Amino acid sequence: MEIIIQPDSREASRLAAKIVAGLVREKPHAVLGFATGQTPIELYRYLVEMHRNERLDFSEVTAFNLDEYVGLEPGHPASYHSYMRENLFDRINIRKDRVNIPFGLADDIPTCCRSYEERIHADGGIDLQILGIGADGHLGFNEPSSSLASRTRIKTLTDRTRKDNAAAFGGEDKVPHHVITMGLGTIMDCRTCLLLAFGRKKARAVAQAAEGPLTAMVPASILQMHQRAIFLLDEEAASQLTRTYYYKWVYENKPDWQKY
Ligand code: F6R
Repeated sequence: MEIIIQPDSREASRLAAKIVAGLVREKPHAVLGFATGQTPIELYRYLVEMHRNERLDFSEVTAFNLDEYVGLEPGHPASYHSYMRENLFDRINIRKDRVNIPFGLADDIPTCCRSYEERIHADGGIDLQILGIGADGHLGFNEPSSSLASRTRIKTLTDRTRKDNAAAFGGEDKVPHHVITMGLGTIMDCRTCLLLAFGRKKARAVAQAAEGPLTAMVPASILQMHQRAIFLLDEEAASQLTRTYYYKWVYENKPDWQKY
């Protein structure tokens, strides 16, 4: 794992954008995995800026999103379809037919999940998956106790996650109980995992995921088994790690050929 600690979320998001842009420039037909929530909003803002000011070209990029609420119309203001359109897809030149987000209104959810996996496979797999982390250590919407080998499927949100996401719905009681999410096995197949975490609220989950035991009770700890997982943190989210000095030294002393 590579653990990069930046002074604040702005700097961390700027670096994340640089990593994503570097991949898109090197591989214009890259397959990118996107996350929603508060955490990646600044990263998406930087990507939009790079598209406008530096002609960062998304015309050949394919996108797969991590998750979506079951029962929400794509046009619902709190759906992840809406979130992605507002924060990124309507502001860059990605082709709409190359955007994939689980369909929360599917009649046959198992078939919809299977075909999502097949589409990822048919597109050659995800090159880089952007991830956030829940305060309980969830990844995607793989809540604690999720199978570490799980694939795209329906999951039930915990009360804590529904509470954390209540603002977008105007009340906890309005947050759906069910979601479709890529599984931890699906995420592990991505060639690079780029996890962003900001703020003190995430510090415990980050420390458990990066330095604690590998356990289904902290789903993000599965990333310890990933060949290329990058944790991009601000100081607050890194505040419960025990080896911050080491991680900072490693990052600051990278050989030139390894720098982003
Ligand atoms: C969103 C997702 C979730 C979030 C996590 C953190 O697509 O898969 O795992 O990344 O719940 O959410 P925020 O960023 O709002 O703290």
